[in-house]
Amino acid sequence: MNDPARYSIHALELGPMENFVYLIHDHASGRAAVVDPAWDVPAVLRLARDKGVRITDILLTHSHHDHINGIEEVLAAYDAQVHLLKAEARFWGQYRDLPTLHHGGDVIELGETAVRVLHTPGHTPGSACYHLGGKLVAGDTLFVFGCGRCDLRGGDPEAMFHTLKRLKTELPLDTVLLPGHNYAETSASTLAEQTRGNPFLLFDDVQRFVRYRMHLHDRYRDAPFGPVTRDALERAMSQGK
Ligand SMILES: [Fe+2]
Repeated sequence: MNDPARYSIHALELGPMENFVYLIHDHASGRAAVVDPAWDVPAVLRLARDKGVRITDILLTHSHHDHINGIEEVLAAYDAQVHLLKAEARFWGQYRDLPTLHHGGDVIELGETAVRVLHTPGHTPGSACYHLGGKLVAGDTLFVFGCGRCDLRGGDPEAMFHTLKRLKTELPLDTVLLPGHNYAETSASTLAEQTRGNPFLLFDDVQRFVRYRMHLHDRYRDAPFGPVTRDALERAMSQGK
């Protein structure tokens, strides 16, 4: 397990869709990985310079435009290696550089910081979350009190149900969630807080989850998201019949 003192994660909120771009900084090596570079790359490069780090890696959570539109600009400034899951590369089908393709469970060594790649399908077929030392960089899989939509091309609400169930049961509850968008009242949270108040983590039944994600949620809730109770969720489910 990573010692948090060995690395820091800096967040930038950028662009018209409130994307979070994260810079993971490994203290020992001075290396950094930028997660989902997009929108305002000069701000990312300024941050890297201010912190005195060298961007050696680009980690993609998925291939949607709002998460990747700054890749080329980062590559113009740093000779960085791009990482994504093989399933996402196949889904994307357009990126012509030579990325490192991962399968779920791989570990990326960023100096002395180990970053575990989790395959978390649902929002897209090859969505990834990055887990390191008690933090989960979750892309559009899990938001603070929300989750990624599953109605776009490549979305799969049943896969999302199983992905979220896995995150909920397999990661420690004190894991800090760092989402891909700022859609909530707070910008970060813990899995403990999410298992209590994130509606998408309150379902035990896949069909009910699918109905809520695909048909009901957007009628009852709007950003900025806050916690919901089981009673409120049940009311939404029964009104939606
Ligand atoms: Fe997305």
